[in-house]
Amino acid sequence: MRKPRKAGGGSQRHGEQPSPDAGPGTPSQVSPYHLFGDADEVTRFRASLLSWYDQAKRDLPWRRRAAGELDLDRRAYSVWVSEIMLQQTQVATVIGYYTRWMQKWPTLQDLAGASLEEVNQLWAGLGYYSRGRRLQEGARKVVEELGGHVPRTANMLQKLLPGVGRYTAGAIASIAFGQVTGVVDGNVTRVLCRVRAIGADPRSPSVTQHLWSLAQQLVDPARPGDFNQAAMELGATVCTPRGPLCPKCPVRGFCQAQKRVEKVQAAVSRRLLGSPEQEKTLEVEECGLLASLWEFPSVPAEGTESVQRRALVKALQTWVRGPLPLRSLRCLGEVVHVFSHIRQTYVVYSLALEEQPQGLLPSGARWVSRAEFQAAAVSTAMKKVLQLFEGQPSGHRKASSKSPQDPATSGPGPGPGRQCRQLTLGAFFKPTSAP
Ligand code: ADE
Repeated sequence: MRKPRKAGGGSQRHGEQPSPDAGPGTPSQVSPYHLFGDADEVTRFRASLLSWYDQAKRDLPWRRRAAGELDLDRRAYSVWVSEIMLQQTQVATVIGYYTRWMQKWPTLQDLAGASLEEVNQLWAGLGYYSRGRRLQEGARKVVEELGGHVPRTANMLQKLLPGVGRYTAGAIASIAFGQVTGVVDGNVTRVLCRVRAIGADPRSPSVTQHLWSLAQQLVDPARPGDFNQAAMELGATVCTPRGPLCPKCPVRGFCQAQKRVEKVQAAVSRRLLGSPEQEKTLEVEECGLLASLWEFPSVPAEGTESVQRRALVKALQTWVRGPLPLRSLRCLGEVVHVFSHIRQTYVVYSLALEEQPQGLLPSGARWVSRAEFQAAAVSTAMKKVLQLFEGQPSGHRKASSKSPQDPATSGPGPGPGRQCRQLTLGAFFKPTSAP
């Protein structure tokens, strides 16, 4: 059950659209809302982002160096060093280290000839020292085994160079060699999640996969390196985690999160002017978006506990045709989930079934194993619900009568209480307040 609009709002989450025919979270049926629909939109998105980048980009030493370097191996080296340093470190800190590094070891051959002690000395203060060590190992490999040539594609870079993962390989290949390959780092993740209103956990496999395919779809074939850097730059300077500068955003016209904010703001104004019909339309649209994630059967938690129980039993009856062992229906406690500034409270009940019910499930629902649940596109809130059921600490509030059972299966799926208002508006934009 969920309590709608506690503390002023509901939570929102949306991601891959599960299909009853595909496995949970299989991105075979991603909601169009999370995609770029047509080629023209993609072209306009690229143009807007790149023209902003051309006039707003920061003058950073690795950009200057890469732009002025005609030799591909030297260019790749200058990008490689910057990307490794930037992996866990802020741009402002990296500038000084990068400058000193390139002064000391301007080429791969210079770095290959350095000692590990020298590398660590220069790296001191940057943290994660294995990065520097691997960089030097990579330089030695290029010089000693690859004839001094840095692998030219993202695949080969990732395969051959120590410390070079999918992101770094894509960044080097696109920036240094012009390979048309998209990249996804933390900044790009935030930009894409907002632009396509993806509220599901971006670390989940299905969302990660979707983000990489979006990045690949968007990357500009004529300027892949600039496009990738522009997306990162936007995330770092405009589409920031807190207090994003939406009025200055070059792609706000493509941003679904922005559209939602505008829509809800308009609805709020209409409501203030007394037009409930308009608000209803909005809720229906919002609820469609919620269908993008799997969730446990749920109903709005309204009224007293006995009213809640009755509503829940009625809903469960549509799932489990036949007698329900209602004596085992237990209230486990509450899960509070804060998404951005919005606080959503779920009252969690468990019901242990002796056997998996026979017969048809409601459309779009399915039984899943624990492993399937973990791999599926489920919201963090649902993961917390399962943790509560399993007795793990997850920031929930426990009820006094707690008796977690251990059924073999659990059943996330679109709950019958979808008309619950889980409006989202500023969810993507406002700072999180403490629960
Ligand atoms: N973060 C990591 N690499 C970057 C780049 N090349 N441009 C902007 N931000 C980055």
